[in-house]
Amino acid sequence: MATIAVLGAGKIGEALLSGLLHGGRSPGDLLFTERHPERAAELESAYGVTGVTVAEAARRADLLVVAVKPQDIDPVLAELAQALRPSSLVVSLCAGLPTALFERTLPEGTPVVRVMPNTPMLVGEAMSAVSPGSHADAEHVRQVTDLLSCVGKVVEVPESQQDAVTALSGSGPAYFFYLVEAMIDAGILLGLPRAVAEQLIVQSAVGAATMLAEGAGHPVLLREAVTSPAGTTINAIRELEKHGVRAALLAAIEAARDRSVELGRAHEDSERA
Ligand SMILES: NC(=O)c1ccc[n+]([C@@H]2O[C@H](COP(=O)([O-])OP(=O)(O)OC[C@H]3O[C@@H](n4cnc5c(N)ncnc54)[C@H](OP(=O)(O)O)[C@@H]3O)[C@@H](O)[C@H]2O)c1
Repeated sequence: MATIAVLGAGKIGEALLSGLLHGGRSPGDLLFTERHPERAAELESAYGVTGVTVAEAARRADLLVVAVKPQDIDPVLAELAQALRPSSLVVSLCAGLPTALFERTLPEGTPVVRVMPNTPMLVGEAMSAVSPGSHADAEHVRQVTDLLSCVGKVVEVPESQQDAVTALSGSGPAYFFYLVEAMIDAGILLGLPRAVAEQLIVQSAVGAATMLAEGAGHPVLLREAVTSPAGTTINAIRELEKHGVRAALLAAIEAARDRSVELGRAHEDSERA
């Protein structure tokens, strides 16, 4: 089986390591890199995987997943470029960094696949969007899809859509957390104890998400099914419409997309400087 190295075993990197092990990969097939020896020792003892340097990972791994923060990418790429094997596949989880950046720095012809995951990877429920770079083919995309399937769902999009993906599913969990927080506040306003309000809303969110994920119907039909004539839900919907909640969501996600584009440009400018 292929050797996989996770470069930067922070929140996302550790979640991936853990998911790969749960998905049946052997600890002997997994490597990781970490800057702090204590953190490396902690991961080695928790998962039985081996911590190595970036250079050693580059020499030994068939597939390397880069999971450092975007601002930490330059030294990692410089080290990778020195030791990478020609056939290795590089997978970037770094938000906003284009495959072209990797292709410029790594040896000519290195296949690169860009991924936008999200934090539910920590519970094996990530939504990841993958985009092949110019040297990655369908087989590379299949390998990455296979890899990420053990920590959630995977979809392929052209790289030009990654800023939209970042705004929608990358930041998406935050919008749901925000909504849940506001609904718990509403429970408090109506006089419910906080713990009860929290339980009511979290379980309603889990139930609604499960219905959607299991294909119980289109969101419009599911919402209509709980909106009875002259009932309670339609009164609430009228307030949501009055306060422009749908328009606010459209504008918010558009603003997130614009910020993603801006951050990508800022990284390109700092590279040129
Ligand atoms: N969290 C999210 O919601 C999310 C969503 C989508 C995409 N992503 C992407 O996923 C990547 C990882 O995010 P994260 O939230 O997991 O960040 P994180 O918790 O900060 O993890 C990054 C890890 O990489 C380590 N690292 C940095 N430079 C290194 C080097 N040269 N060699 C070895 N290890 C190094 C860091 O060590 P230190 O502790 O020393 O810094 C840290 O442990 C980012 O590129 C982010 O854009 C994250």
